[in-house]
Amino acid sequence: MAFRQKHLLGIEPLHPDEITTILDVAERYVDLNRQADKHSDALKGLTQINMFFENSTRTQSSFELAGKRLGADVMNMAMQASSIKKGETLIDTALTLNAMHPDLLVVRHPHSGAVDLLAQKVNCAVLNAGDGKHEHPTQALLDALTIRRAKGRLHRLNIAICGDIAHSRVARSNLMLLGKMENRVRLVGPPTLVPQQFREFGCEIYDDMAEGLKDVDVVMMLRLQKERMDGGFIPSEREYFYRYGLDADKLAHAKPDAIVMHPGPMNRGVEIDGTIADDINRSVIQEQVEMGVAVRMAAMDLLARNLKASREEAGVMV
Ligand code: NCD
Repeated sequence: MAFRQKHLLGIEPLHPDEITTILDVAERYVDLNRQADKHSDALKGLTQINMFFENSTRTQSSFELAGKRLGADVMNMAMQASSIKKGETLIDTALTLNAMHPDLLVVRHPHSGAVDLLAQKVNCAVLNAGDGKHEHPTQALLDALTIRRAKGRLHRLNIAICGDIAHSRVARSNLMLLGKMENRVRLVGPPTLVPQQFREFGCEIYDDMAEGLKDVDVVMMLRLQKERMDGGFIPSEREYFYRYGLDADKLAHAKPDAIVMHPGPMNRGVEIDGTIADDINRSVIQEQVEMGVAVRMAAMDLLARNLKASREEAGVMV
């Protein structure tokens, strides 16, 4: 099994074979999740703690469901963004956690790098559920699985990621994953939201939707992350929708069978027209949510296998 990681902190450290392994294991969980009995005992006896220092609807519920379906004892710790300061507090949290002997720790945090720091201080597998503007690896993996199933492959595709790239961990993780799998990625959005340094990732940058979407296979829309904006990045939401919101006219520039994606939560009428989001012939947004549970089951299953193997090697009872 080609998956050697101790944690899932980001897409950056993953080898393409490891990405393929996660997606292949996830395929089996897609099938399981469609059965009447959705139970497996891959995580039986293990404890999973979810710590979300930032609000989340689908990611947290998806991780919770994934852990429960795999037979883990799952606990959600209520973390308020206001209760964290930095450094010391996070390390104190890690010490408290260690005393509870978790096996899997799922963390979302508003600061980039905070999840990595926590991973260095705890004795369990850590999964990054989104850290600031840095990474959101399970989102990129679920997007990859959705693309692979819709297009029959995950290489040599033209993919446009559109909108608020500057503030998006989803965009960063997707850029890395799609690049590692040898796709051509374009970033499309206003110059204020698409920093030129993103060219380092080997992608093309467009500030016009008609040009940026021309002949692409996949259109990935992003939410305007207003909570991360500290100034006037856009003139108005109305103007933004007119220039960058995905509607039927703009989508007509993509390939006729191009799929439309969005990680949620959506701002209908801001970055995407409601009719496009609901068009079952083009939009795979609901499928992304379904793939999310399967990918998180696969990631936790693979990490738990590595954790058990390393504990056995160290002579620790599991
Ligand atoms: C994303 C996130 O939190 O980074 N949402 C998600 O995980 N489904 C994107 C967003 O908040 O816009």
